Amino acid sequence: MRKISVGILGATGMVGQNYISLLEGHPWFEVSYVAASPRSAGQKYKDAVKGRWHLTADMPAHLADLVVGDANDVSAAVGKCDFVFSALEMAKDEIRALENAYAAADIGVVSNASAHRGTVNVPMLITEINPHHLDLIPAQRAANGWKKGFVVVKPNCSIQSYMMPLFALQRAGFPVSRLIVSTMQAVSGAGYPGVPSLDMIDNVVPYIGGEEEKSESEPSKIFGRVEGGVIVNDTSIKISAHCNRVPVSDGHTACVSLEFAAKKPGIEEIIAIWEAFRSVPQELGLPSAPERPIIYRREEGRPQPNKDRDAGHGMAVSVGRLRPCPVFDIRFVGLSHNTNRGAAGGGILNAELLKARGCLG
Ligand SMILES: NC(=O)c1ccc[n+]([C@@H]2O[C@H](COP(=O)([O-])OP(=O)(O)OC[C@H]3O[C@@H](n4cnc5c(N)ncnc54)[C@H](OP(=O)(O)O)[C@@H]3O)[C@@H](O)[C@H]2O)c1
Repeated sequence: MRKISVGILGATGMVGQNYISLLEGHPWFEVSYVAASPRSAGQKYKDAVKGRWHLTADMPAHLADLVVGDANDVSAAVGKCDFVFSALEMAKDEIRALENAYAAADIGVVSNASAHRGTVNVPMLITEINPHHLDLIPAQRAANGWKKGFVVVKPNCSIQSYMMPLFALQRAGFPVSRLIVSTMQAVSGAGYPGVPSLDMIDNVVPYIGGEEEKSESEPSKIFGRVEGGVIVNDTSIKISAHCNRVPVSDGHTACVSLEFAAKKPGIEEIIAIWEAFRSVPQELGLPSAPERPIIYRREEGRPQPNKDRDAGHGMAVSVGRLRPCPVFDIRFVGLSHNTNRGAAGGGILNAELLKARGCLG
């Protein structure tokens, strides 16, 4: 089978490097184009990332000499790739306009940026939860006059560690009405160089700009329904989020208390629901889908970032400490790898679903 050619916009950044690394040896996709800011454009990839390659694995040798394009020049990508992963860090309106321009040039966009998360006809996917939102693609194309292009986005990395456990309970017939979450988010989530080291060592920073608003609003789109060519948000869960930056390299942790709307499952019943949870990516056997999307840890002190972030190749959510809550109904701790499941790995899984649904051809 001919592999599908992939471009990476923002290939020199933290998330872009993760794409480069995770796509190495991918059975369906191969990187054929890399682009970044005009500062990097024209340089060989190895020179553009010199002194800021942050992964433990070396960069794939066959990509080291690839010349970096200017991500702002859409015409440079035409004919070089079938679709792009967007991991750009620029002003939101600039990213939105650029992603639209790629789609208009028949190059589909699978984005990690937040620019299009609020666009009503852009699916915001967690593949296990709302794969049916891809049904919107024909309406999105029609509304924009795009032939083969599309834009699909990933939600914020901070919500990944509790959205699947939450969805599994709702799908099993236990809707949730209220949820309070406190996150402890890794420094890699801020990109490179990110938070100054003197702010981070021996410290916790109780503020991440825009993160609490995203955590409170994005779930309603993900749980929304497709109707009349747009996503109609589901506002049945009230969420209050506290987001903190902590001195952890990778892995976002979330402490969650939630209240059920009606029926309340027992503790062992919830663990059984989580352990049995499988969804469309597992049924389709998508290459990056974790076999067990939710892994329940019964040990008292788990999950922990440096022990559990790589579970399911960094694509599974680890959950633990499920117990009754004296204020709401239950509480638990969730953990997921923010630059893998929460960023590049999640984007790749989205693209695999797009391919399986025939949207990439
Ligand atoms: N880090 C995470 O865990 C995470 C998780 C989810 C989503 N995201 C989102 O993913 C995106 C990338 O995040 P990151 O952490 O990888 O950021 P980053 O490390 O700062 O990388 C940003 C990338 O954007 C490029 N860029 C900057 N200005 C540009 C311009 N004017 N024109 C074209 N390209 C430009 C940079 O190119 P140069 O190297 O040439 O400057 C670099 O490749 C962001 O939108 C972020 O919100 C990140």
